Amino acid sequence: MAERARVAILISGRGSNMAALIYAARADDCPYEIALVSGDKADVPGLQLAHAEGAPILALDAKLLGASYWNTLQDALDAARIDTIALAGFMRIIPAEFVARWAGKMVNIHPSLLPLHPGLRSHEAVLAAGETTTGATVHLVSDEVDSGAILGQVKVAVLPGDTPDTLATRVLIAEHQLYPRLLAEFVSRPLTASWIEQRIDELASHLPEVGRKTSHGSPGWSVGSGKTPKLFAILADHHHGEEAIGLLVKASGPDEMGGLIEAHPDVYYWPKYYGAGGWLAIKLNRRDVDWDHVAEWLERSWRACAPPRLTKLMSITEEF
Ligand code: GAR
Repeated sequence: MAERARVAILISGRGSNMAALIYAARADDCPYEIALVSGDKADVPGLQLAHAEGAPILALDAKLLGASYWNTLQDALDAARIDTIALAGFMRIIPAEFVARWAGKMVNIHPSLLPLHPGLRSHEAVLAAGETTTGATVHLVSDEVDSGAILGQVKVAVLPGDTPDTLATRVLIAEHQLYPRLLAEFVSRPLTASWIEQRIDELASHLPEVGRKTSHGSPGWSVGSGKTPKLFAILADHHHGEEAIGLLVKASGPDEMGGLIEAHPDVYYWPKYYGAGGWLAIKLNRRDVDWDHVAEWLERSWRACAPPRLTKLMSITEEF
């Protein structure tokens, strides 16, 4: 199995969703491990439980720390080499800077079918609105409270006579099912060929005159609008039994390729068959891919393959 994602859970209280994630992570095939539990209150039952269950914890008191709270938390997340943050009943407004730092890597669970009933007191709002169905939502965290892209939901029936408490109890059971499953899906996504292909497509689309072309069945990107657009990038998905999903780009030659592969064997490899043609492979089914670096390689490879009229155009635009 691929290396597990390192997840930090942030809580503010009871931590029953946190417990669901901790127990789910005990399965041998769970794609994440709980590498840190922290939050904004030092003395909450959730932290005690996490500690008793052997999860690394960091007790922080946001009130006491004041302005230094978010930096202290960020340092701890860095030290624990966290890939993904899972908010689980974390009740503090998160500053935009922190949200931006974790964009696409921080998820939350909310006890309603978002976009319905965001914010506090969702169950009261559901009952007041006379809903017959409610549920829970796992979503990416964005700047606005409870409004990031939805990763998944589960429905829960509202029963006659339900109170906010009885409803909360049943929704919580549904939350405990939903969160571990969706977190597993979410952390597995960046290691899949379809997700990687989409990401490269996005980056490649910023370059002029880029089209799609397959190379012996592998997805590829070409430059040039003429009859023979030239391939400048190929996605090799476990090609000929290789264990990597790699992006093949044009390097300057075997010397550069050999040097890079020797210096960074976890990032680069010599692709079967294509290597001889000057294609260098960048391994992308890793959790620590530097996508700016991939974008640089795409541009470089594009330049190496683009017709002079396009590269000239690019140099002129760069001067301005
Ligand atoms: C959960 O119901 C969670 O969905 C909710 O707080 C509760 C925390 O319980 N979160 C929000 O309302 C976020 N806007 P827990 O501490 O037992 O997991």
